[in-house]
Amino acid sequence: MLSRQIVSELTRLETPFYLYDTDLLRRTLESVVYESEKYGYKVHYAIKANYDDHILGIIREYGLGIDCASGNEVRKAVELGFDPKSIVYAGVGKRDNEIEYAVKQNILAINCESIEELHLIDAISKKCGRKTDVALRINPDIDPKTNHCIDTGQADSKFGISYEEVLQHVDDIRSLENIDIIGLHLHIGSQIRELHVFENMCDKVNVIVENLTSLGFAIDFVDVGGGLGINYDLPENEPIPNFASLFAIVRQHLNVGSRDVHFEFGRSIVGQCGELITRVLFNKTTATGRKLVIVDASMTELIRPALYGSYHNIENISSQDSATEKYTVVGTACESTDVFDENVGLRRTKRGDLLTIKSAGAYGMSMASRYNLHDIPSAVYSDKL
Ligand SMILES: Cc1ncc(COP(=O)(O)O)c(C=O)c1O
Repeated sequence: MLSRQIVSELTRLETPFYLYDTDLLRRTLESVVYESEKYGYKVHYAIKANYDDHILGIIREYGLGIDCASGNEVRKAVELGFDPKSIVYAGVGKRDNEIEYAVKQNILAINCESIEELHLIDAISKKCGRKTDVALRINPDIDPKTNHCIDTGQADSKFGISYEEVLQHVDDIRSLENIDIIGLHLHIGSQIRELHVFENMCDKVNVIVENLTSLGFAIDFVDVGGGLGINYDLPENEPIPNFASLFAIVRQHLNVGSRDVHFEFGRSIVGQCGELITRVLFNKTTATGRKLVIVDASMTELIRPALYGSYHNIENISSQDSATEKYTVVGTACESTDVFDENVGLRRTKRGDLLTIKSAGAYGMSMASRYNLHDIPSAVYSDKL
């Protein structure tokens, strides 16, 4: 909960903006580094979750690598000084110029998602006079028990190559002279709270690694992706996600010998350290009796509720009123789905009050748009206040 003093400082700022608690970010990074070092696991930060420069600077201090989903994300990581050999690059539809850039940067691995893409990486590597390290992103067909909008590893998904397709093309893959298959990659989905799902993932990985090895592929590392969920309902109860439990599960169930094991966390690193601060513009009541609070943020700053039906805990941080009422909190965008939440219990709310929309550090700012020609939201950092 924000202190009175911080709230009074925030009141003077122009809204809406993202507020980042950099102390919480540091404590989260300390936790993931401490817990991963117990097992020698390597951790990448999924830059798509939040590409803010100040945040990336802090993450770099803790020695994490980067997981990218576009050529521009690779470029950003390289330009900010992340070691190219700590960068992996996945993406179901990489463009030729993006692949060429990654090939020239000599990153740890391009995580390849189709047989045609393998051929293209091979051809581009040849043109560049290089040999490129590649990991096969395999679709393991696992139900991650999360919101279906953010699952990525079920058989019919667009992500990854089906294991069967790899088996059908073994000779073809082995004939490519300008790439080395050095890793196996999977990512089964995001916001996974039922950690036993990762046990199924490990069981599948064990079989795939054994089979690929027996087919002659020298797999040096296994990258099991990200996906660890955060507590959106009660963020104060769990500000730092449970990295220890996930690593313990993987340690117990993954049998990949001395191979390196990599993770790519986005949401669990930055989700809880960010919140969207917005001001109440108007209150009104619909003909049906619904009390609306119209705030100056919208789906253009935080699209998750409109896009996925995601829940974010909302609080009125400036009202001193002890009475609470139920409201529907809506944004300014010209879309009916621009609703942050319905039936929210808030301290009685009036024009000018500040609301916080919590747990918005991941997939918030990075998914912002300029729809309705809204401005991209600004950022305020606790260590710069
Ligand atoms: C390939 C890949 N790795 C890692 C991540 C990060 O996932 P999360 O934010 O759930 O940790 C994603 C997210 O979509 C992804 O697609």
